[in-house]
Amino acid sequence: MSASLGYDLIVQQLIPGYASLARLAVALLSVSPLASRPGAAVLVAGCGTGAELVEARAQRPDWQLTAIDPSAEMLAAAQQRMGGDSIRWHQSTVEALQADGRFAGALSVLVLQSLADDGSKLAFLTALARSLEPGGQLVLVDLMAPERSPLQHQVEAAWLAFQQASGLNADPQALEPLTQGLHPIGEARLTALVNAAGFTDPARIFQALGYEGFLLQRRP
Ligand SMILES: C[S@@+](CC[C@H](N)C(=O)[O-])C[C@H]1O[C@@H](n2cnc3c(N)ncnc32)[C@H](O)[C@@H]1O
Repeated sequence: MSASLGYDLIVQQLIPGYASLARLAVALLSVSPLASRPGAAVLVAGCGTGAELVEARAQRPDWQLTAIDPSAEMLAAAQQRMGGDSIRWHQSTVEALQADGRFAGALSVLVLQSLADDGSKLAFLTALARSLEPGGQLVLVDLMAPERSPLQHQVEAAWLAFQQASGLNADPQALEPLTQGLHPIGEARLTALVNAAGFTDPARIFQALGYEGFLLQRRP
């Protein structure tokens, strides 16, 4: 993803509720049965510029954090933001990470949406499930497929109005990674994929227009 410096502003102007998403995601994990333990190992998958890392450190300074992202540019931006923090950094996809059962919890915010539903989403989710201890939890947030509602056009118009009111005036190229080449799926398909990957049914914990967040648990 290019233009990582502008990313933090753009993402807040584009996604309603983004500013509190990382706080909510970390709060959920921090009270989960496994990641509530002192010094729990937690994976931030697709850390981008580090929004979830900042919040994790603020709420749980005791967590052993691992941050992964295949983009050198995003990883460098996150590293700079986190200063000399003792985070384990990996330039890697989740699928390539060798982390069998190591983590008590994981966060994946706005990552699955960019993978095609041609086996890639399933491979990503399976790797996340494999990286968790049995009973470990994942907070997953993504753009979902639009609902078939007669009012859907109003939802789409409202999204544009939200962007305008937020002053979004970004170079279309900078917006591309967040708006182009995405592969949103509906909740029924997400449930089928997460079940096949080894997770329980998703529990919805967030929704703002098409952006939805879910809490999942790796089956024992
Ligand atoms: C839209 S950004 C979201 C970053 C951050 N989680 C946030 O909410 O601001 C998506 C990030 O996922 C990373 N990514 C894409 N495919 C991935 C994969 N297979 N495994 C891990 N990270 C991936 C991208 O490089 C990018 O930094």
